[in-house]
Amino acid sequence: MAKHLNSRAAAAKLSWQIIDKGQSLDITVSSFFEHNSYSPQDRGFIQELVYGVSRWYGELDAVAATLLRSPIRNKDRVVHFVLLVGLYQLRHLDTAEHAGVAETVSACKQLNKQWAKNVINGCLRNYLRAPSEIAENVDLISHPQWISQAIGKAWPEHLNLILAANNQRPPMCLRVNRRQNTRDEYLSVLAGAGIDAKADENTPDGVFLESPCAVTALPGFEQGSCSVQDTAAQISADLLDVKNGMSVLDACAAPGGKTAHILERCDNKIDIHALDISERRCQQLHSTLDRLELSADIFTADASLAPSWPLPKSGYDRILIDAPCSGLGVIRRHPDIKHHRRSSDIDALEKTQAGLLDNLWLHLKPGGIMLYMTCSVLPRENQQQIAKFIARTNGAMLINVPHPSALTLNHGVQTLPGLHDMDGFYYCLLQKQ
Ligand SMILES: C[S@@+](CC[C@H](N)C(=O)[O-])C[C@H]1O[C@@H](n2cnc3c(N)ncnc32)[C@H](O)[C@@H]1O
Repeated sequence: MAKHLNSRAAAAKLSWQIIDKGQSLDITVSSFFEHNSYSPQDRGFIQELVYGVSRWYGELDAVAATLLRSPIRNKDRVVHFVLLVGLYQLRHLDTAEHAGVAETVSACKQLNKQWAKNVINGCLRNYLRAPSEIAENVDLISHPQWISQAIGKAWPEHLNLILAANNQRPPMCLRVNRRQNTRDEYLSVLAGAGIDAKADENTPDGVFLESPCAVTALPGFEQGSCSVQDTAAQISADLLDVKNGMSVLDACAAPGGKTAHILERCDNKIDIHALDISERRCQQLHSTLDRLELSADIFTADASLAPSWPLPKSGYDRILIDAPCSGLGVIRRHPDIKHHRRSSDIDALEKTQAGLLDNLWLHLKPGGIMLYMTCSVLPRENQQQIAKFIARTNGAMLINVPHPSALTLNHGVQTLPGLHDMDGFYYCLLQKQ
C-alpha cells in the first residue's frame, strides 16, 4: 500500500483481500504490518476490525444488503467492506457513533473512492436511526450453511454453543517454558508487569491472560520465557508422555508449537525428527525452536510417502500426527476459515490423513505409541477416520486418552469450543502390538 491509510481504510482493504480474494488472514495482516508502521493502539484496532468483519461477515453482509439501494459494483468491492467495517463498529464495538461514522466515511477518500462518501454516510446514518428494525431478519449465526449443517449433524445438542463460541474473541493463552521458569514464577513476573493472568486448570504449563496483548509486551518473550498456544494444543505433550532416550517423530510439525513443547518437557534432551511438507513452514519451525533455544532434526518431507528422511533403526517410540484438517475446531482463532474452507475440501483432507496414518504406522516400534490429532470437530476427520484405520490395520490397538475434560468417544476424545474452555481438538492414542 503506497500511502498510510487510516485504521478503517486499512481494515476495509485487508478484509476485502481476505474475504473476496481468498488471502490468509494471518499472512495478510502480518505482512501489512511488516510494510506499514502503526502505533500499537492502531495495530490493535485494525486487527480488531479485520477479525470482527471476518467473524461477523454473514450478519454484516445481510445488514448491508438491507441498507444499500443496489449492490456495490464488483470493481468497487472495497467500498462494500468500508460499509462492513462501519457496521461492525456500530453493532459490536463501543466506538462513539459520531467518530465511527465520520472516520469510516473518510476511509472512502483514502481508498480513492471519494464518490462513495455519501453512500456510506447515508447507510450508516440510516442504520443508526433504526438498528433493530434493520437487523430484524438477518443471519445472526454468521457461518456458511455447510459449516453449520456439518457441525449440527455431528453435535446436534451442542450446535448453538459451538457456533456462539466460534464468533467470540478467544482468550490469549500462553505456554510457560518450564526450562526457564515455573508457571507460578512466570505468573508473578506477569503480575509485576501489570498483566493479569491465571493458571489453566487442565494443563500444567498453560496460562490465560485476562486480555490479549502484543507478544512484545510479554516479559522475556524474545528470550523464550513463554509461547502463545491454546491450552487444547498443550495437552498433546502430556498425552505423548515422552521420556528421555525415546526416539520421537513429529510428522506434521510446523510452525513447531508442539515440537517445542515436547522438547521443553524433556529439557531438550531427546532426539526428535520434525517433518513438514512445506519449506516455508519449516523455516517458521526453525525460528520457533531458535527463539526457545531448542533443537530438533528438521526435514522438509511428505510424511505420507516412503521416507526421504533417516529413520531410527528399530522405529520410533512415539509418533505425533497433528494432521492437516479442516480447522473447524479453531474458527474462533481463524475466522477466515469460514470464507476459505469448502465442503469439497473434506474428501481430500480425509485421504491425506489416511495416507499419513498408513505410512507412519510402518515406522512405529512394536509397543510404540502414535498420537493422531486434529483441530477439527468433524467425525469424518476424527473418530470415523480412526475407526476405518483400526479396521484395516493389524495390531493397531486403541488406548485410553487420559484427557482432563474432553468428551469420550468410541474412538478417541474431543473438545468442543463453547463446551470446553479451549479450542475444538480431537485426540486418539494408538499402540502397536
Ligand atoms: C495442524 S498443522 C501442524 C501444527 C504444528 N504441529 C504445531 O503445533 O505448530 C499441519 C501441518 O501439516 C503439514 N502437512 C500437510 N500435509 C503434510 C504431509 N503430507 N507431510 C508432512 N506435513 C504435512 C502442513 O504444512 C502443516 O504445517
